[in-house]
Amino acid sequence: MKTLRQKSIEIILENQHRSGSYIASPNFPTYAYSWFRDGTYIAYAMDRVGQHHSAKAFYLWCTKVMVDQTQKIQTLIEKKKLGQHIAAEEALTARYTMQGQTTGDDWTDFQLDGYGTWLWGVSQHLEITNDLQLIPHIKQGVKLTVDYLIHLWDHPCYDCWEEHLDFIHTYTVASILNGLKSIQNYASAFDLDQLQLTSTIEAITTFIDQNLIHVSGYYQKMIHTTQSSPVETLVDASLLGLFMPIQLKAFNHPVMQATLQKIEQDLVSPTGGVHRYLEDEYYGGGEWILLTAWLGWVSAANHDLTKAKQIRTYIESKQNPQGNLPEQISENVLRPNRVQPWVEKWGPIATPLLWSHAMYLILDEEIKKNE
Ligand code: BGC
Repeated sequence: MKTLRQKSIEIILENQHRSGSYIASPNFPTYAYSWFRDGTYIAYAMDRVGQHHSAKAFYLWCTKVMVDQTQKIQTLIEKKKLGQHIAAEEALTARYTMQGQTTGDDWTDFQLDGYGTWLWGVSQHLEITNDLQLIPHIKQGVKLTVDYLIHLWDHPCYDCWEEHLDFIHTYTVASILNGLKSIQNYASAFDLDQLQLTSTIEAITTFIDQNLIHVSGYYQKMIHTTQSSPVETLVDASLLGLFMPIQLKAFNHPVMQATLQKIEQDLVSPTGGVHRYLEDEYYGGGEWILLTAWLGWVSAANHDLTKAKQIRTYIESKQNPQGNLPEQISENVLRPNRVQPWVEKWGPIATPLLWSHAMYLILDEEIKKNE
């Protein structure tokens, strides 16, 4: 009988395309694409478990995707510099075909977080493997991404759940900040402009502090650029990313603590699973495996191994007989009458979801590291 750790590595390897991309889920047609966001967490998990060739192949794939879009990126940057409007359909998308092409459908998915995340992933790959020889092969992709983010970081876009277009999202800007900060350590190897990087990093940090802390003292989900909405002041479980991997502020900083407390209070169900945010209705708003693992990752990094291990056991209990982890489980859904409409629309919940397996592996590794 294979462990969930072994199964997770196998599932990820089996579902990595020869181009290097990872399919989000092989059994769910809507997710038959490769996302920069999911993909980077998957590649990072593979680096943590020693499967460096897999991570490297993904980062080379990302590079090709970026380089193929050089013209488009330059046009977007020019428009932004001139203060011209950028429509969601014009920007880079969040997902590509397995071969690395744009999807050509009308699912507009202008999202910036994944691009910040991949810069962070690249820096982790270099740190873990010390494979500096890779740099010339990914340099162009990294430079284009840095340039794109330096100019567009404060542009409203969809969040990491592909919703709420007209907002600036805390997790998104923090992911961009983390990407730029992490890659700054390799600025000379990538020929990056240090001054421009430093001033952007300062601007994003100030923006977050001034605009994204709720009056009650926690980081809120997002902010509207022109008019407020009640949803923006909620917490979102993606804010767990502010702890790991972003480490926005010290773990015990009051705003970080207030955010974690509010996530625990609002989004952790009685059985321990984690919801995305209170208004969620996607498949009824169930408990997401990857977010539950994320809470475990944060707990392990903060030396709460008892909690991290409880979460690991919880996740292991949610694998199906084939050792597959779903995207979400429907034990304690927030909106029971919204489960069936989604099943009718897109089919049963995506299983296996590679990102769920990746977060399980990261949790498992983080426990081992802190034991
Ligand atoms: C989620 C995204 C994810 C995509 C593929 C969507 O439902 O909201 O965060 O990237 O699925 O897994």
